[in-house]
Order: sequence, then C-alpha cells, then structure tokens
Amino acid sequence: PSIRREDYLPPAWLVPEVALDFRLGLEETRVASRLSVRRNPEGNGTATLRLNGDQITPLTLRIDGQEVHDWRMDGPDLLVALPGEAHQVEIETCLNPGANSQLMGLYASNGMLCTQCEAEGFRRITFFPDRPDVLSTYTVRMRGDKAKFPILLANGNCTAQGEDADGTHWAEWHDPWPKPSYLFALVAGELVANHATFTTMTGRTVDLNIWVRPGDEDRTQHAMDSLIASMKWDEETFGREYDLDLFNIVAVSDFNMGAMENKGLNVFNTRYVLADPETATDADYDAVEGVIGHEYFHNWSGNRVTCRDWFQLSLKEGFTVLRDQLFSADMGSEAVKRIEDVRVLRIAQFPEDSGPLAHPIRPDSYQEISNFYTATVYNKGAEVIRMMRTMAGPERFRKGTDLYFDRHDGQAATCEDFVKAIEDGAGLDLRQFRLWYAQAGTPQVGVELEHKGTQAILRLTQSVPATPGQPEKQPMPIPLRLALYDRDRGEHSGEKLVVLDKDSDTFVFDGFARPPVLSINRGFSAPVAIRFPRDNADLVFLAAHDDDPFARYEAMQGLVVQHLVAAVSGQLDEATRAEARHAIGEAFAAIIADPALDDLMRGELMILPAETYLAEQLAVSDPGAIHAEREGLKRWLGRELAGPLRSLHDRAAAVAYARDAAARGARKIKTQALTLIAAGDPAEGARRAYAQYTAADNMTDRQGALMVLASLDAPEREEALADFHRRYEGNALVIDKWFSLQAGSFHPRVLEHIRALARHPDFTMGNPNRVRALYMAATANPDAFHHESGEGYRMIGELIRKLDPINAQTAARFVPALGRWRRIEPVRAAQMRAELERTAAVPDLSRDVREQVSKSLG
Ligand code: ARG
Ligand code: ZN
Repeated sequence: PSIRREDYLPPAWLVPEVALDFRLGLEETRVASRLSVRRNPEGNGTATLRLNGDQITPLTLRIDGQEVHDWRMDGPDLLVALPGEAHQVEIETCLNPGANSQLMGLYASNGMLCTQCEAEGFRRITFFPDRPDVLSTYTVRMRGDKAKFPILLANGNCTAQGEDADGTHWAEWHDPWPKPSYLFALVAGELVANHATFTTMTGRTVDLNIWVRPGDEDRTQHAMDSLIASMKWDEETFGREYDLDLFNIVAVSDFNMGAMENKGLNVFNTRYVLADPETATDADYDAVEGVIGHEYFHNWSGNRVTCRDWFQLSLKEGFTVLRDQLFSADMGSEAVKRIEDVRVLRIAQFPEDSGPLAHPIRPDSYQEISNFYTATVYNKGAEVIRMMRTMAGPERFRKGTDLYFDRHDGQAATCEDFVKAIEDGAGLDLRQFRLWYAQAGTPQVGVELEHKGTQAILRLTQSVPATPGQPEKQPMPIPLRLALYDRDRGEHSGEKLVVLDKDSDTFVFDGFARPPVLSINRGFSAPVAIRFPRDNADLVFLAAHDDDPFARYEAMQGLVVQHLVAAVSGQLDEATRAEARHAIGEAFAAIIADPALDDLMRGELMILPAETYLAEQLAVSDPGAIHAEREGLKRWLGRELAGPLRSLHDRAAAVAYARDAAARGARKIKTQALTLIAAGDPAEGARRAYAQYTAADNMTDRQGALMVLASLDAPEREEALADFHRRYEGNALVIDKWFSLQAGSFHPRVLEHIRALARHPDFTMGNPNRVRALYMAATANPDAFHHESGEGYRMIGELIRKLDPINAQTAARFVPALGRWRRIEPVRAAQMRAELERTAAVPDLSRDVREQVSKSLG
C-alpha cells in the first residue's frame, strides 16, 4: 500500500471554485459543497472524477443540478463519470465533530469547532480531490447557534453576516487566493480576541486577531508582539508582504501538532500562543515566537507557493524552518539559537537517519503521509537549504529566493523547482548538491591534520551510511567552514570555506611554524558527523579561545563526548579517566569564570551532551551504562566545582525578573548550576532547589527548581509537587509541566510515579498535549524508558495500542523510540522488539502505526 513519488500524475480534473455551506452542530454538522470542476488539459483525459473521502458517506450527489445515482465508492473514495469539460458537482455530507477523536478534519475542542486539514483531513469533511496540486478559491458559509458559537471564522475575509429569529446566526467568508484543500480552515466558538493592526511596507493596514477562550486573553501579548515582528522581518529579510486585510490566529487546546498555517486563519496549539511570566518559561516564550514566525512565514513559503505533492513537503517545511530559525536568531542571540537548533537536530534527526525509519528529506515512498512530518523533513530540510545559503552568501541566496517566489507564485511546486531557482538566482552549480534531497543518512566526515614544514595538510574523507532501500551512496558536496589557530597567539588568519565533494580530498594551508589547532564545521555549516579523534588539550584550547561560538560549544561537547564514549566502551583505565575529568573540569571552571561570556551562552556551554546523542556515537549501546557514566560525570563536576557552582547560583539568584537577555541568562545558568550542585550534594541541592522554588516569581525558576527536586529522594520533593499542582490547578499547560517533570525525573521510583500519574484524575488519553506530557517525557527519559526491567518498553507498547484507535497520529509518534532496538544491547533489544511484535499483531491497527511498526521490525 505504498504511494511512490515516481508515480505522480497531474490531476485529471481541476476545481477552480468551491462553495461550502456548513450547518454547525457539535454532534451533527451538515456540509453542502458545490464544486465547479473542469477537465485538466494536462491530465490523462479520464472521464472519472475521483473525490477522496475518509469515514464519510454522501447523502446526495448532484451533477449540474440533477441528482445522480450512478456514482460508486472505491474504498473511501467516491468515483463518478463526467462526460464533458466542465460541471457543477454538489455533495452533501453529515459529520459528528464531537466523536472525532483523531483531531483531523472537523472536530470539537472544549465546546468549540475547529478544523485540521493538512495533510489529508479535508476528505474527512467532504468529498474532494484532496491533493495539494488542486488549487481553488473558496467561499464558505456557515450557520450555527449564536449562543454556542458566537464567533464564526474561515479563511480570507468576512463578506457578509447576519442573524435569525431562531437563535442562529451566519457568516460568509471569501478567500480570494486559490489554495489547496489542506489550507482550508473553519473555527466556531466562544472566543475573545487580542486585536492589533499592522501597516505593511506598501502602506496597507492589516487587522490582526489572536482568538482564545475567555480568560486567556491576558496571556496573548507575546504572541501578538511575535506576529508583528514576524510580519516586519519577512518584509525586510525576504521582501515578502502579507496579502490579505485580515490575519486571524486561533488557539485550541486539543491539537495533534504545533500549529497550522491555514490561509489567513492559523490554528495553534495553545502551548504556542499563551505565555506570561507566571506560567511560561523562557523556553516557552522562545517557542511561541518561533512557531508564530513559522506559521506566518508559511504564507509565502507554503501558501502562495505550495507543494505539488506530499513528497515535496520539505519544499515548504525545510524552507520555513530555515526562515523561522533566521528570524529567531535576529530576535535574540544568533549564537545561542544556532546551538539550540543543532542540538535538536542531533537529538531528534540523527537517530532518524541512522535507524529503520531513515528517509531522504524528499522521500520516495510512504504509506501514511502523517508519518513524514519528521525532524528529517523539517530540520534536516532546513539544514540543506542553509548549506545553499552558506555557499552563496546571504545576498546571492536572497536573489535565489526572490526568483523562486516570482517564478512559482500561485503554483504547486517541487523541491527541484526550488533548487533550480536558487541555482539560477544565486548563480550556484547545484547539480551534485541535489543528492542531499535524494540520499538519507548522516554523512560521516573523517578528518586528519598533518603538519609538515610550514604546511598544514588537511585530509578529509566522507561516507554516507547505507539506509533502508539505499545500500549504495554517492559523495555529496559538504561545505565546511574552518579556521586554523596559531596555538601560541590564540588566533587564526581568517575563516575559509572548503567544499568536500569527493570521497576524499586534501587541502593544504601554508604559513604554520607549529602545528595549528583546527576548528572545523564552524557554525555547523554542514549537517554531518565529524570523526576527528583529538587531544583533550586541543579541545580545551578551542573551548576557551574559538571566536566562533558554535565551535566553542562544539569543542566542549567533543571533550565530554570523547570521554563518555570511551568510558561506556570500557576502554578507560583510572588514570585516563582522571585525566579526562580533569580536562573537563578545567574547561567548565573556565566557562563559569569567563567574564567575556554572556550568561545565555555560558548556559549553552554548560549543557552536557544528551544520552541519545551519546548513544548515536556507538553502533550498539547500553543505555544503562551511558546513563550511569553521564550521571557519574555530573556528580564529579558537582563536587569538584562545588564552590564556583554555588557562587554562580547565588549570583544568578540575585538577578530580578526581566525579559531581557541578561536576566534570562541568569535564569538559565541558575538552574544549570542547581542541577550540578544537586548531583554533587543532594541535600544541599534539595535545600537550594526548595529555596529557589518558594522564592520564584516566574515559571522558569519555579519549573527549574521543581525539575531538580523531582529527581531527589527528599521531603521537599513531595511538598513542592503538591504545591505546584494546587497552585496551577485548572491551567492545562502548566499541569502538563507537572506531568512532564515527574515522568522525566531520575527518581529511583520513576516508573511507579508514571503509572500513578496515568491514573491521576487530570490524565486523559483524549488530549494530545497531556498524553505527550506524560509519555513523551517518559520515552525521552532513559531511566524510565530503558529501565532494565523492560517495564518502560511495555508501558509505551501498551500506550501505542491503547491510543491508536483514539488518535492514530499521536500513537504513531511513539513507535520510533521502540524502533531503535537494533542499536541497543541485546537484552533490552529483545524486549523492545517484543513490544513492536505485540503491536504488529493487533488486527485493526491504523495505517499510521502499522507503517511505523512494520518498518521498525524490518
Ligand atoms: N504545516 C504544519 C506546520 O508545520 C504542520 C501540520 C501537520 N499536521 C499534521 N496533521 N500532520 O507548520
Ligand atoms: Zn510548517
């Protein structure tokens, strides 16, 4: 049941216009659609019109006003033969939004009605050629009970509204921009708006509304500020102006993903809209800004230029992620943003590339497209476009994107169209570069540096690992920014960009009396893994001196990764361990003391590499050993640096709450210092954490303190957890944190806690945020998920099977963690595999879970 990219055929029929009429009700909504269909001159000429459906049946079907009965169903799709060139097709369907727990199509959330159509949800509302290369202009009429649904919204502009004596009212909306069905949206409910206006670069006024449930309006200002900043930034940076007079955002609490870029009516998960200091952490503020930007930027990269088919998903997602990353970098610290983005890539995407679900950023086949909203398509997709930008430079890259938007405005385009536009506009030769779209797997780059006379000779090799369905790979162009440091002067003579485009290559640099220190893949210029065994001394040097902040972070990570990997591989004698710890301790102490560092950056440098990233370095790993070694290092650092860490914590604790970078930095290092203090001395950690918890006047400090307490076996733990729940009862987003903190803890009885939380009255399988809060945190927690009893795997297996009939998309997101079994030591691997097999044996598995499980079993 795979759909293949190479089988693409243009649609046989086009739908230039759609008129939808909704009679809204929570339990029963009637949908009447009128499609003007026209034969596509580029199509295959078939008389059969295929209208996709999913769990719907037609009540009536009329062609050119005449009811017809000679239609037939082909599985979920409706087929009808049409003789001529152009027709009016009218179809009625009836839905029960209240029973729609999949949260795709039209569904109810807290008494409100809303839609999610990407990728294939529109077919759950009405029969339609539900594919992104069918673009239509939409007119939407809706009618509903005025008391239940006082606000009625759809895409575009409201063209008429009125009310009737029977207590109902109606509204008509028209979107002048042709769009694919996945961008359709409708919302009806009791909502209040934060309203503002934006004046575009050509002087047009745009009305902006952020709609939330009554009572939440005071938590929308950051989202509004972020929206206005996004609109301005896209004009200045990419020359893109907004194109309607109205822009609506609606926050809903039941949502499968982060948010959705429906034309003129973005629908958001509440967690990416609502923020105030009392309930949102600094990271939450950043996430709101990033997602608001992301969805807004889709108006051009996604909506004005959309995708020809879902294999091209990275065309809009990779590009839009790059745009939101550049936006966030401009709004805050460019260095810190880059480090965060690379950390996400390594934790979430590298494991995809090295596991059974590996796929290129432009996949060749899929069974269920929802499974391809991945870190590969999104984040690696962004890295691939970023490489083009690095090779061209920002100005020439902008010429390329201008050409792309000019050339393809109003079209459903392909990744190839994008690359061609960058090639032509930026003046790059990207023939070989296109392999980045086709080949899965993280390239491994081997580095050797030899010093001879006055020359530094750099030998680079690359190999792209085999991935499922792709045993052989070709070399790709890998742009590497590098610098060679004179180790006496602590300086380099300018950064260079080399492009490694063969299996191996040599680059010679002259003018070095002594062996230089190499800083390579600066700024993470290519999404590759560098294999360069090196002396601790060189890494300590770079961690202290590199003028590229990312490279400085990288040296610090390298120092720790190299040590922990050696430690878990059992290759360490005590002298080597002591030497490595000493080097790490020195580097840490230098970072804590460095007056030239701002605290946000200091915080990045103090983050230890994640356990999944450590596991990634080994062909097969023992999660228990990785966890023990990493915790052991934290304990050692906590003791070794007890004095400086306590001073750091005290210094940070004295900084008053503000939203500026200095105060945010102080909050970041405050909890980091606390974590290490608690590792070294749990009693002192508990005391300080409880003090931080009770003194907190903001969620960053409070959550940080509670996170530390949650892992401790101390009386303060229960007290703080109970207080937190009492304090924030009824605030769903904060209660989510309460679940996550406990499920993510390193407490010795964490599995018991998770089981109890699953029975807590606040837990529900019906809300994806809540499910993720408990179980994603548990899955990401090596202590819980990889618990040697195998209990963690059983818990996630059971969750998948129980959640699948309720919300298949969310259930499928838990499968990849079990799919890592081949890379885990044999005892645990067998337990993980057993859960996959148990799941595969369920008869009525969704297509979502079925695909992930069968690929994971291999
Ligand atoms: N296009 C949305 C975004 O990235 C994601 C929507 C995906 N939805 C889904 N059900 N798979 O901004
Ligand atoms: Zn997106």
